[in-house]
Amino acid sequence: MRVFVAGATGAIGARLVPQLIEHGHDVIGTYRSAGGAERVEALGAEPVALDLLDARAVRQAVLEAKPDAIVHQATALAGVRFGRSLDRSFGPTNRLRTEGTDALLAAAREAGVQRFVAQSFASYRYARVGGPVKTEDDPLDPDPPAMASQTNAAMRHLDEAVTSAGGIALRYGGFYGAANDGLVRPVRKRQFPVIGTGGGISSFIHLDDAAAATVLALGHDGAGLYNIVDDEPAPMSEWLPALAAALGAKPPRHAPMWLARLIAGQGMVMMAAGSRGASNAKAKRELGWTLRYPSWREGFAAAYRS
Ligand SMILES: NC(=O)c1ccc[n+]([C@@H]2O[C@H](COP(=O)([O-])OP(=O)(O)OC[C@H]3O[C@@H](n4cnc5c(N)ncnc54)[C@H](OP(=O)(O)O)[C@@H]3O)[C@@H](O)[C@H]2O)c1
Repeated sequence: MRVFVAGATGAIGARLVPQLIEHGHDVIGTYRSAGGAERVEALGAEPVALDLLDARAVRQAVLEAKPDAIVHQATALAGVRFGRSLDRSFGPTNRLRTEGTDALLAAAREAGVQRFVAQSFASYRYARVGGPVKTEDDPLDPDPPAMASQTNAAMRHLDEAVTSAGGIALRYGGFYGAANDGLVRPVRKRQFPVIGTGGGISSFIHLDDAAAATVLALGHDGAGLYNIVDDEPAPMSEWLPALAAALGAKPPRHAPMWLARLIAGQGMVMMAAGSRGASNAKAKRELGWTLRYPSWREGFAAAYRS
């Protein structure tokens, strides 16, 4: 297939492009920042400069590329500082998930593109009630903290727009597997504490496994939502000390809830302490996906081995 990867230079795009080529696909990869063309070429794809927020440019790029499939992996998270408001940090990414998705879907329709796969997110989204691990059929948080309401709405928009157009939205877990993963610096500097009893559950996914699931999703008929997470959703009290150990850092500090609220804000603490994990059973069953790193336990150690 000719596969158009929007966001080919990102953390996941750069892992995905070589795997697509290995599977015999021709890849057109988009980038936005200077130097992107060389990076896309080095990955083995044909580079196209594209701002996904420019719907006319998206239309033109897709019509010219004549792809059989589109994968939307564009986010705007490089170098973002995470403060008390997720909506502020995710503002540009939210636009890529709403306006960018809509522009790509419209172009795909016009160009007769048969397959569409887009990046969504699993962690912190499921309703903070009931058991610790959620499937795609479980309800999303109906009442996210105010500071994350636009971010949650943007992900919901992407999920609904993509699946109602016949495509697949992949709800990835927290990415890891690169030396500059977002958690590396704060955990090394002991700036990322275990909050309260550390009972909030997270789901992770190694970037190589996330890319492998994406290749399989492209070959899958029919619309759907899939959690792309590893086999071991885990409480913060377990994964955070293990991450610190894998990085050779000192064990994380502990912050009681009141202190965490003071530092990070009520919304962030609600999400971190109440979050649920996600189940990958559907992706394994329907996509035939197997993981190289079934648990972050071995994945962290492999990713950060010095
Ligand atoms: N599930 C998760 O946990 C998750 C999801 C996403 C990101 N992250 C993390 O966030 C950090 C940053 O992510 P990243 O390295 O992928 O960088 P990023 O800044 O999020 O960029 C991702 C891709 O989107 C492209 N892009 C950005 N703005 C665009 C626009 N307006 N139009 C079209 N394309 C646009 C980028 O192009 P250029 O490179 O040319 O700017 C890049 O190809 C990484 O540590 C990553 O692991 C985590």
